[in-house]
Amino acid sequence: MTLNEVLRFVDDVVFDKTGKHLDSLQEAILRATWQGEKYSKVAQQYHCTKFHVGNVASNLWQLISQELKEKIHKSNFRAAMERYQVSNVSSIFNFGQSNYVKGNINLCTDNTHSPETKQKLPTTQTANKNNTPLPKLDLRDAPDIKKTFYDRSTELTTLKTWIVKHRCRLIAVSGISGIGKSTIIRHLIPEIESNFDYIIWRTLRTSPPLNVTLKNLIEIISNVTEINLSNNTDGQLSLLVEKLRDMRCLIILDDLQQILSSGQLIGNYKPAYENYGNLFKIIGELPHNSCLILNSWEPPLEVFSFTDNDSAVHLFQLTGLTEKVAREMLKNQGLSDEEKWQELINFYQSNPQWLKLVGQTIKNLLGGSVAQYLSYQPLFLCRELTNIFQQHFQRLSELEKQIIFLLSEQPKSVSVSQILEKSQLSSPELFQTLLSLERRSLIDKITEEKEISFGVKAIFKHYIKNYRVRT
Ligand SMILES: Nc1ncnc2c1ncn2[C@@H]1O[C@H](COP(=O)(O)OP(=O)(O)OP(=O)(O)O)[C@@H](O)[C@H]1O
Ligand SMILES: [Mg+2]
Repeated sequence: MTLNEVLRFVDDVVFDKTGKHLDSLQEAILRATWQGEKYSKVAQQYHCTKFHVGNVASNLWQLISQELKEKIHKSNFRAAMERYQVSNVSSIFNFGQSNYVKGNINLCTDNTHSPETKQKLPTTQTANKNNTPLPKLDLRDAPDIKKTFYDRSTELTTLKTWIVKHRCRLIAVSGISGIGKSTIIRHLIPEIESNFDYIIWRTLRTSPPLNVTLKNLIEIISNVTEINLSNNTDGQLSLLVEKLRDMRCLIILDDLQQILSSGQLIGNYKPAYENYGNLFKIIGELPHNSCLILNSWEPPLEVFSFTDNDSAVHLFQLTGLTEKVAREMLKNQGLSDEEKWQELINFYQSNPQWLKLVGQTIKNLLGGSVAQYLSYQPLFLCRELTNIFQQHFQRLSELEKQIIFLLSEQPKSVSVSQILEKSQLSSPELFQTLLSLERRSLIDKITEEKEISFGVKAIFKHYIKNYRVRT
C-alpha cells in the first residue's frame, strides 16, 4: 500500500466518523509516522508544541482503531495498514480507483429550528491523478486559466504558506486594477485545492447585498439548491460560520471595491453594505477551519484592525511583476529597443495588464519600437488605461484629490512638513489622507536617510496632468 492510498483510507475513515476531511496537521502526522519520523519534527514544521501534535495524533489513532477494531498507535500504524491491505480493507475502500464511498451527513439548513433537511453528499468524488479526493469547486465567477502565466512564484509561495501552513482565516489581496489579483488567486487554487472540501469563487461586481451572498454560500456548502433561511443576517452569519467550522472551505470574494464607497477615504462601505464588515470581522476573529480571500482595489478597514504577524488575518499588497519577468513579457509581445524597456516597465509599474495594453499600442502604431513610443511627448496613454485611471480618480475623497493635485504640481517628492505648509490641512487630516492614498497604491513613499517624502506615481501624475477629464 502506498502512502497516498493510506492517506485516502484514513481520510475516508475520519470523514465517516467526524464529517471532516483530514487537515494538513493530521496529514503531516500520518506522513511522518509512515516514514518513521518524530512528532517533534512535525511540531517544528507547524510551529506548535510536540504535546499538541501528540494530542492530535492520539485522536487519529483512536478513530483508526475503531475502524479496524484493533488498537492502533504510532509504532504499529504502518504494519497494521500493510496487513489490512492484504486482508479486507482494499475491497471495502476500492484502493486504486477514483471513487470512494463516503458516509451520509445530516445538515441543518436553518438555525431558526426549521425541520432539518437531510442532504446526502455525492457518493462519488472526483480525484486527481494522485487519487487524492478533490474538493467541490464552484468557480463559475472565476476567470479562466490562460495559457500564458508570467511568474508569480514568490507571491504564490507566501499565499500558500499563509493558507496551508498558518491556516489563515482571512486574507485581503489588494492592488490597483490590472496588477493581477484575480489571476494569481486563480492560479493558486490548483496548488492548494487538496486542502479543502469546498472552493467557491464569487464576484461582488454586481454589488449583491450581504444576505444574498450568505444564502448563496450556505446553499453551496450545504449542497442544496434552495434553502429556507431566516432573513435575520446575524442568524445567517452564524450558520455560515458553523459550516465553515464543519468543512474546510476556501471562499474567494473578488472585486470587493464594488461594495466600498467612492468619494471617501478608503475602506468605507457603500450605504446598506456596512454589514459585510461583520462578515469579515467574524471570519477573521472566530475559530473555524476555512479561509476567505478578498480581492480588492482597496482593503476593507477590518483587515487593518486585525492584522499582525501572529494573527489569522493578513493583508497582501500585490505589486507588479519583477523586471526580469516584465522583460520576458515585452519580448513575447515582439517589442524592440531592449535598452529602453526598463524605463517603460518602471513607468507602467510592471503592471501586467498595463504592459499588455501599451505593448499592443506600440506594436500597432510604431511597429514595436519602445524608443519611438517614449520619444513622443506627452506620452500617449490608450483609452482603456485612461478609463481605468478615471475610475480610480473618481473614487477619491475631496481631500485626496486636493493632495493629488498638489503633489502632481511638484517636480519631485515632497516632505510631510512641506505638504502641510502648502495644503493648509491640519496634520491629522493630512496623515489620514496620505495613508488612504498610499493604500490605494496611487502615491509613493520615498525614504531617504531619515527624511520621508511623498510623490504621485509617475503614470498617475501623467494622467492627472494630461488626460484627466475635468468634471
Ligand atoms: N502573471 C500574469 N501572467 C499573465 N497575464 C497576467 C498575469 N497577471 C495578470 N495578467 C493579465 O492581466 C490582466 C489583468 O489581470 P487581473 O484581472 O488578474 O487583474 P486584477 O488585479 O484582478 O484587476 P481588477 O482589479 O481590475 O480586477 C488579465 O488579462 C490577466 O490575464
Ligand atoms: Mg480582478
